[in-house]
Parts: sequence; structure tokens; C-alpha cells
Amino acid sequence: MTRSIWKSTAPKTNFPALNGNLETEIAIIGGGITGITAAYLLARSGKKIVLLEAGTISGGTTGDSTGNLYAMVDKRLHHIQSKWDKETAARVARSRAQAVNLVEELVNEHKIDCSFKRVPWYLFSETDKKDKTIEKEIDAAANYNLPVEELHELPIPVKVSTAIKVEGQAQFNPAAFVRGLAEKIDSTNCQIFENSEVHHIEKEEELVLSTSSGTVTAKKVILATHTPKGIYGLQTALYPYREYAIAAKLRSGNFPDGIYWDTEADFHTSLRTYSKGNDNYVLVLGGHHKVGQEDDYSRFFGKLEQNARRYFDVDEIEYKWSAQHYKPADGLPYIGESSDENIYLATGFSTDGLTYGVLSAMILNDQLNDRKNEWSDLYKASRFTPIKSTKNFIRENLNVAKQYLKDIPGKADAESFKEIAAGQGKVVEVDDEKWAVYKDESGQLHCQSAVCTHMDCIVDWNDAEKSWDCPCHGSRFEATGQVIEGPAFSPLDKRNMNPKE
Ligand SMILES: Cc1cc2nc3c(=O)[nH]c(=O)nc-3n(C[C@H](O)[C@H](O)[C@H](O)COP(=O)(O)OP(=O)(O)OC[C@H]3O[C@@H](n4cnc5c(N)ncnc54)[C@H](O)[C@@H]3O)c2cc1C
Ligand code: FES
Repeated sequence: MTRSIWKSTAPKTNFPALNGNLETEIAIIGGGITGITAAYLLARSGKKIVLLEAGTISGGTTGDSTGNLYAMVDKRLHHIQSKWDKETAARVARSRAQAVNLVEELVNEHKIDCSFKRVPWYLFSETDKKDKTIEKEIDAAANYNLPVEELHELPIPVKVSTAIKVEGQAQFNPAAFVRGLAEKIDSTNCQIFENSEVHHIEKEEELVLSTSSGTVTAKKVILATHTPKGIYGLQTALYPYREYAIAAKLRSGNFPDGIYWDTEADFHTSLRTYSKGNDNYVLVLGGHHKVGQEDDYSRFFGKLEQNARRYFDVDEIEYKWSAQHYKPADGLPYIGESSDENIYLATGFSTDGLTYGVLSAMILNDQLNDRKNEWSDLYKASRFTPIKSTKNFIRENLNVAKQYLKDIPGKADAESFKEIAAGQGKVVEVDDEKWAVYKDESGQLHCQSAVCTHMDCIVDWNDAEKSWDCPCHGSRFEATGQVIEGPAFSPLDKRNMNPKE
């Protein structure tokens, strides 16, 4: 079973499920770092909040992240500079540094036990050739007054040709932070409900959010759901990718704290340490593919383990998991009011969303309190940037168009249910319709339509996570069809198996 080290080790929250109908000023959907930090700041400002979380607090991507906080970005600041300009990249770095400072303040103010510490960030290249990425990033970081240094060796046993170090970044246990902060939210202004999945948003005079055990009527709604739920034009500018992670328990040795990123293009690796009691772990993350577009999902774990054992004295791989992120077409996240009046978004974080999630909460707190925020214009959700988005936009949307072609007759994984092994799923064509069929370990078949309930793409079986993943906008469904994540609100439609099949 895949499960992250953070979700497994952070203290649990125990908020009730919604039971009845409520009215509020602001409803927040989603209890990850974005939703909880926004709820905290808005409740502190005196706003009345209801937060609805489908599962448990930090049970989404936040609890599956690496737990690194930094001013830089996954795609590198010099890319932002070349796509936009020097001033934009400098503002990105400054705004992100402010968000990291807020996390530190909250940890100190509320004594949140989440192993927060300031650490250096390293970007390194293992190749012998001069690595242009490193050179450009050194120049960019120096331009933005980040404390940058060039190195030719690292404090970990990885041989590098060249590296860059930026002091003063940070690390924590993300699930422990978010769950700890959730407990500190002013409960006179904010009610939190777990296990309360929103199935539908009705736009009447106000906004009515429906769950299976009650409704919440709100003047404004924040979709802190990682990617917006429902159908938005913005989804054509958000590209879903999955990435893989392991936490390897070390037999001996340890290595200094830090965020270590490899520039290797085809299997970008990120390393960090974490200690739990007397046990020291190294977390290795990497691998990268579009959601629902992979032949062998499990292979990534093998490559990560190989990398861990290459550098460190590994005892065993105690945790392994994967998670997804959404790349924005023009390199910057979308934060603010959506094309639907009174519905606010925070999305397109790539793998930088712990910091962007906190930054979103800061921006939304100001916007919903009618205060000016110095970063609002930079990240505004309604922007359209055809020139900066063109290359990604065309490539990614052609890719989506290709996924729709999978619905043509004859394109299925299997012709009969007999071809499905226990514990596996396959797309099978039944009466000219594609079914997503899962055979559980006891041999029982679970049949549902393979048509994604978001916008009708055909889902793909993910053998590592035992889920149905949609290749178009990243919706994922359990083997038995319930929504896990992504823009879809509804489960896959059930199908009754013909006993003759
Ligand atoms: C492998 C990986 C590693 C990463 N590492 C880092 C890192 O080190 N540093 C960094 O800055 N970023 C990192 N990121 C990115 C970061 O994890 C995410 O951007 C961030 O956690 C997003 O937070 P969120 O609160 O917006 O979304 P989430 O944490 O996904 O929270 C959304 C919540 O909404 C809930 N929800 C969804 N639908 C509904 C519904 N219908 N009703 C009610 N609730 C609903 C979900 O259950 C979930 O809890 C990483 C990403 C990946 C994939
Ligand atoms: S996620 Fe959009 S069609 Fe499936």
C-alpha cells in the first residue's frame, strides 16, 4: 500500500462531519495548506467561515509533499525571468519568501510541533559538462538578492560537478503543520468539518454547497481543492502531472539538513532528511509523467530506491507514495476571484504549492477583507497571457485532444473480463461502451463506465495506486469509482455486469 511518511506520522485531527444546514459569510472547500491557512487568517480577521474537507485535514497533496519551503521555484527563477521579465521573477521570489516567513511566525506563535527549521537549498548537477541551468540560476538568484553561493561539492555523498546553495530556506512536516494550525483556528469564527465532501455548488442569490449530510450557504466560496472543482476555462491552462516518493530508513549515517535538487532532466530527483525518534530517513522524490498517461506506474519506485541505495546505507524503504501537481501554462499560479463571481481559486502551484498555498491564503485574506495586496495583480486568476502560454497551451491541449480519441471503438485494454487478474483493472469494451473494470483480490468484479465524469475523457488504470486516472485534467477515482481528487465532482457511473460476460 502507498502512504506518505507525513500522513502516517503526524497527529490526527478529529473534526465532526457536517450534519444539517448552515449559513456563513465564506465557505472554504478543502483542508490542505491553502484552505487551513486561509481559514486561520480569515477567522483571525473576524470573518465567519465554514470549512468543508472531503476526507481528513491534510489528507490531500499537502500530506504527500516533500515538506520544503523556499523562495525559488521548481521550474527555476530564470525561466520565470525569461518568460516574463526580471521584475516579475524578483516579485515571485519576494512574495514566496514572505509566505515562508509567515509559516515560521505561525509555528513560533502557536508552538506547532512540526520540525520546522531553516535549511539551505541546493541545486546540483552530476554531469561533467558545464550545466547552463546552474549558471543561469546563480545569476538569477543574485539578481534577486538571495544569499547565493556556487559550490563544487555537497555535504552529502553525491559527486557533483557544480552546485548552487541558497541559505535561509526551510523544511517541516507539512501534515503536522497543517493539522496543528487547524487546531489553533479561532473556533468562534470558524467551523471545520471533515468527511464532508461537497458534491455540487448551486449558484443562486448566494452559493449553496451540497454534501450528503447537509448544505452550506455562503456569500463567497474559496475552492482550496488544489485544482478547481467543476468546469472552468482555466483548466485548459492547467496541466496535471504525477510524481513519486519514497522514505528510506537509513541503517547508518545521516546527512546534513537541506533541500537537495538534481538538475537531471529525465528523472529530476529531490532529496531531504527527516528524523523520527532514533530513526533517520532520507526522502527521495522524482519521476514525472502526465496523469493517466503511463504504461508502468510502479517502475518509478524502483528507480527511486536505486537512487537512494546508490548514495546511502539504506535499511528498508518504509514509505512510498505518489502525488500530483498542476503546471500553469505561463509559469505562475492562479490566485483570486474566478470567472464565476464570488468563487475564489488558488491553483497551478506546480511542486511549489506549500509556499504558494500559504501565499494564496495571504492574498485571499486581503481580497476578502477589501484590502490591497501587493501580489494580487501578479497572480490574478482571471489573467490570460496568450504569448507566455502559447507553447505549453498548444502542446498540452493537443495532448488532451489525443486522449479523447481513445474513445473510438476497438481501443480498449482487454476484450473480456477474463483477461483481468485479481487486484487489477482494465478498460473493456462492452456493447460499444468503455467500462472501467476492477477485479478485487477476492476475484469480485467492480464495473463502472470508463468515461470521466468531468468532461468525458476515458480513464486509465494506475497499477501503482490502484486507481482510475483521467489523462485530460487529472481527475482520479478509486478502483470502485469514488472521486479521489481532481476537477470531477461525481463518481464513475456504475454498470451492472452481465452474468454471461
Ligand atoms: C510529489 C510532490 C512533492 C511536493 N513537494 C513540495 C514541497 O516540498 N514544497 C512545496 O512548496 N510544494 C510541494 N508540492 C506541491 C504541494 O504539495 C501542493 O501544491 C500543495 O500541497 C497544495 O495544497 P492545497 O491545500 O492547495 O491542496 P491539497 O493539499 O491537495 O488540499 C486540497 C484538499 O481539498 C479537499 N477536497 C477536494 N475536493 C473536495 C470536495 N469536493 N469537498 C471537500 N473537500 C475537497 C481534498 O480532500 C484535499 O484535502 C509537492 C507536490 C508533489 C506532487
Ligand atoms: S478530468 Fe477532465 S475529463 Fe477527466
